[in-house]
Order: sequence, then C-alpha cells, then structure tokens
Amino acid sequence: MKKWIFFFGITFAYQIAIAKADPVEVQVKKKFARYQESLKKELSAALKKGHKHAVDTCKLKASSIAKNLSTQAIEIGRVSHRPRNSNSSIKPWMKKATLAYLAGKNLGDLKKIRINHAETGYIKPIKTGGLCLECHGQSVDPDLQKKIKKMYPKDLAVGFEVGDVRGFFYAVVKNEIGPDKDHLKRLRIERMIQKFESGFNAPTIKVRDMMRISKRNLFDSYVVVDVREGYEQKVSTIPGAITKADFEKNMVKYKTKKVISYCTIGYRSAEYTNTLVAKGFDALNLRGSVLSWTHEGGKLVDHDGKDTKKVHVYGKDWDLVPEGFRSVTKKPWFKGWGR
Ligand code: HEC
Repeated sequence: MKKWIFFFGITFAYQIAIAKADPVEVQVKKKFARYQESLKKELSAALKKGHKHAVDTCKLKASSIAKNLSTQAIEIGRVSHRPRNSNSSIKPWMKKATLAYLAGKNLGDLKKIRINHAETGYIKPIKTGGLCLECHGQSVDPDLQKKIKKMYPKDLAVGFEVGDVRGFFYAVVKNEIGPDKDHLKRLRIERMIQKFESGFNAPTIKVRDMMRISKRNLFDSYVVVDVREGYEQKVSTIPGAITKADFEKNMVKYKTKKVISYCTIGYRSAEYTNTLVAKGFDALNLRGSVLSWTHEGGKLVDHDGKDTKKVHVYGKDWDLVPEGFRSVTKKPWFKGWGR
C-alpha cells in the first residue's frame, strides 16, 4: 500500500513539473536532443565510409548542425573540458557548473545558469557512448590517430571510456528582448506552416535557399511570382517579383524557367504551385513566403521600387513580422477594389 502512495506521489510531482516546465527550457532540451540525434546519424553514416573520412565529416557537420539549430535568440554549441578543437573549450560562465558535473554532483539533466542581465545559459553533459570510442577512446586506430594529431596537435580528447562525460551541449538564450519576441513569432509562423503544408504537398524552396541563389541566376533561370491581391502588393513586394496576371499573360515565355510563387505565409502560393506543376511547370512554393522573408532579413520594395519596411500581412492572425517592420492589415471593403 505504501508503495502505491509513493508511486502516485511521484507521478503527481512529475505532472506538476511538466505543467510548470519553462517553455525556454523545453525548447533548449529539444534543440539539444536534435543536435545529438543529427550528430549520431552523421557520425555513423560517415564511419561506414571509413574513419579518415569521418573525421572531416565530424568537423564540418558538427558546426553546421549547431548553426542550423541556432537562431537570433538561442545560440547552440558544444564544448569540452578536454577538447580536441581548442575553440571548443569550456566558457567562463559555465566553468563552475561543468566542474560540479565532472565531480559527480547531481545537478539534473539540464543546468540553468545566469550569465548576465541579458543572457541565460544552459548546459547538459554529453556522455561517451560506444560509437565515440573509435575517435575518443583509449585505443584509437594508429592511422586515424595520426590524422587526428595532424589536424589537432593539442588534442586532449582521447582516453575516454563509455559513460564518461565527454563534454557539454550549451545554449545561450537572449532574455526577453526584441530578438526573443521575434523568435516566438517565428515559432508561430512555423506552426502555421506545418498545419497546412502536408495537405498541399507542393514542392517548396526555403527563403534561405532562395537567398543563396545569385541575383543573376535568379533573374536568368527563375521567375518570382507574387500571387497575392493587388491591394497587398501595393504595400510591398519582394524585389523583382511579378504579379500572377503578368505571369499568366506570358506563360509560354516562362515555360523554361523555374517558378517561385509566394503569398503571405505560403498557403495561397502552395495551391498555385500545385496548379503550375499540373501544367508541367518546374514550380516551387516559397516556404513561409513574405513573413519568413522578413524574418531572414529580406528587403521589400513599395510600388515605386523603393525600399520599405511596410508589409501587408493578410489579417491579424498573420501579423507576425519581426521588429523593425510595419504590418498593414487593411483590406478593401469589397472584393475587386484596388486590384
Ligand atoms: C570519426 C571520429 C569521431 C567520432 C566517432 C566521434 N568524434 Fe567527437 N570529435 C571528433 C573530431 C575530429 C572533433 C573535433 C571537431 C572540431 O574541430 O570541432 C570532435 C569533437 C567533439 C566534441 C567537441 C569538443 C572537442 O573536443 O573539440 C565533442 C563534445 C565530441 N566530439 C563528442 C563526441 C561524442 C559524444 C561522440 C560519440 C557519440 C563522438 N564525439 C564521436 C571526432 C569524432
């Protein structure tokens, strides 16, 4: 009987803990988990191709995964008390907590640390697993060891055993200031996209990938189509975009180009992309459309081609532009006006 009371007590306490979970902490944990999963996946895939190859993959992939997980509000990375890469040494703000972890103190899975008034840090120990021994264990393959020593003359990351703390994931979170609010807006945009995206299943391009296309290539090989209404386009458009009407007038001419369509968040343009695909076009929907564009620092131009920070957001629910932009939600009072 006592055991049962104890059991329910624990379950209840656990539920309170979940209910009270700090949303930032939840997010940090998720990001750490994703970091760990992606690293493991990359490592095991690379190890299959050979050790030496894996070392290069490890170096490049680890930092690019961390970069992808980082945002303006949260920086993600990893460090070690016995680093291979000396850039990955313990940072001053986490020193005390990492020493406590290494001394075997029970600080829980995730330790929150105040860095200063504007930033909060989080760390989580990374345990050495069997997979890690190939490159961090006591007997590393001599050829591999040679290559590692050459790349990292001051390597301290050998001699680990399974279960040892190999290092720490860390996060630096900007407290409740501008970028953090933008970050929450980005989360809402992402959630909205995920709600409709699978329903359309349209081919997509991410804003970041579109921004990577050189300007010349964008004009030569692509056509960017704004599928919104005239009154929305009057406020601002992505530079170089044409209207749906202009596109449709010259459809034959654009047959050889890739078509990137956008609207406010990518709903209307997903629909349009699918109709274009059905007509044989190489069409892509701009994921998150004008909203994501503003969050990635994209420029907008007004009707006269001048830079503007104003953007039509379709309605209140979509009013998610970042700090520094001004949203417009006004609609003409009857359809067809202002086209
Ligand atoms: C194929 C070899 C290889 C394997 C397997 C490997 N690592 Fe590494 N690890 C490296 C290299 C190379 C670096 C340095 C990367 C850099 O330059 O940032 C590194 C760096 C690290 C770092 C960053 C701190 C430092 O020492 O520079 C951590 C933490 C780490 N590894 C943990 C692990 C864990 C945990 C595993 C097992 C899941 C693992 N590694 C498996 C090669 C490997």
